[in-house]
This record gives sequence, structure tokens and C-alpha cells, in this order.
Amino acid sequence: MPHDLDPRATLQALLDFYVEAGVDVALDEAPRDRFTDDDREPVPPAAARTAFAERPPAPVRQPLPPTAAAAPADAVAEDARERARAARTLEELEGILAAFEGCALRFSAKNLAFADGNPQARVMIVGEAPGADEDRIGKPFMGRAGQLLDRMLAAIGLDRTQVYIANIVPWRPPGNRMPTPQEVAICRPFIERQIELSAAEFLVCVGGASTQALLGVKDGILKTRGRWFSYQAGGRTIRALATLHPAYLLRQPLQKRLAWRDFRALRRALDGRP
Ligand code: URA
Repeated sequence: MPHDLDPRATLQALLDFYVEAGVDVALDEAPRDRFTDDDREPVPPAAARTAFAERPPAPVRQPLPPTAAAAPADAVAEDARERARAARTLEELEGILAAFEGCALRFSAKNLAFADGNPQARVMIVGEAPGADEDRIGKPFMGRAGQLLDRMLAAIGLDRTQVYIANIVPWRPPGNRMPTPQEVAICRPFIERQIELSAAEFLVCVGGASTQALLGVKDGILKTRGRWFSYQAGGRTIRALATLHPAYLLRQPLQKRLAWRDFRALRRALDGRP
């Protein structure tokens, strides 16, 4: 059968096209307008085709719930700050985040990816945002970048029982786009509280997004990596290190030598060596 008539090959080519275009996850059987306040079941595809042919009047768009988008980002971030402050434990913080509707990402994500590892560990690692694997599993750094992170940790004698892992944004941005500045601003109080409530003595920001969000630097990560900062975690001052993101290292393997330098510096700091 010629290639272009083979239904399997045609389907595969279509799927490849979707993946290349960034459509790498199916959220539902049928398209759903998540910006309406409408909780009816989505229209099944066949019915949707008929409906399209008949051209019904466009549904009236409902305003977003006030906490989801209509409220100014500053007000939502302030609300997030108050909620985060109220958490006395990491379990409470996770519950508060799970109930928080101020970040629109939670409506397209499958799961909250709150944390992995050991909250009593001396090292806390903070990345950017969950990807497809993390969204499916509900934990940070589960995919290829996470596997590389595990190998980097193993190289300095650490595993996931000896680190605590989270992201600045705990819900997957659709299509793995970068979180917007507003999304980061809204989620920042939660990750700051998560760091405060952990036992971490060392914070490792992997990638530019978490470095900029938590360490307040404007420079890019290639300029900032390897630098140590003082981070105020509630009443404690902890040491923070900026380094390259494992997803970047998967694309630029030659840069692993720089990350290796940073991880060795972390090892020395853990051992109390200069
Ligand atoms: N990249 C991140 O920054 N975080 C994850 O959890 C996975 C990939």
C-alpha cells in the first residue's frame, strides 16, 4: 500500500505533527471551553459536527470566577500570600494549594505536582513547572529531566530521600510553555512558604525561571549559575545556589560540565568544606 494511503502511517504522521506543534496531551474526548462557567458535559464529536453545521448562536461567555482571572493579578497574589501564610505544615500547604483557584493553570492541569523527596532533607531543589509526565503523575521531575536530575544528584552521593523537590509553579502550563510572570507572581507565595516549612539548609534553583523568581536576579542563568546567594526563609537564612536546568542540559549536553562544577560546589558546602 502506498505510504500516503496507509491509515496507520497517516495517523502516525498526524500525531507527529501534533507533538511537534506542542500538542502532546489530550485533556478530554472533545474540545471544552474552559473559560466559560459551564459545567455541562462536552459535546461529543459527532454531535459537535452537526451543531457546527446548524450554526447555533454562540454561547454567552460567562465571566471567569473572580479568583480565577477577573481579579487583578496583584489582588490574587495577595490572596495567595495570605493563604500560604496560614499554612503551619507542608501538608496544610498542599491542601490549601489544592483548593486554591486563583491560578488558571490548575484548570488545564490534570494534577497538582506539589513535591517529591524528603521535606526533612538538607537540600531543596526548585525547578520551573511540571511537564506532561509530572502532570500525569502529580510529582515534580518525573520525566527525562527528572531522570537526569537523579543522575546529577547521584554523582554527588545524593538520592531523592536526601533532597526535597518542588517547582515555582505547581501546575503544568499547557503545551509546556513557560509560566507567565503573572502565574509566577500568583504561585510564588506558595513556593516561598514551602521552602520556609521545609528543613532545607541549602536551596538549589535549577534554571532561570526559579533563579529569577526566588533569588530576585534579572541576569540570565548562564551568567548567574555557580553563584551563591543568601535566601531568607522565614526567620532562617539559608544558602542558595543557582544552576542550569536539567532540561536545558538534555538539549545542550556540553554544558553539563558547568552543572557538574555547581554540584561539586554543593557537595563541598554540604560537607562544610571551602
Ligand atoms: N521541569 C521542571 O522545571 N520541573 C519539573 O517538575 C519537570 C521538568
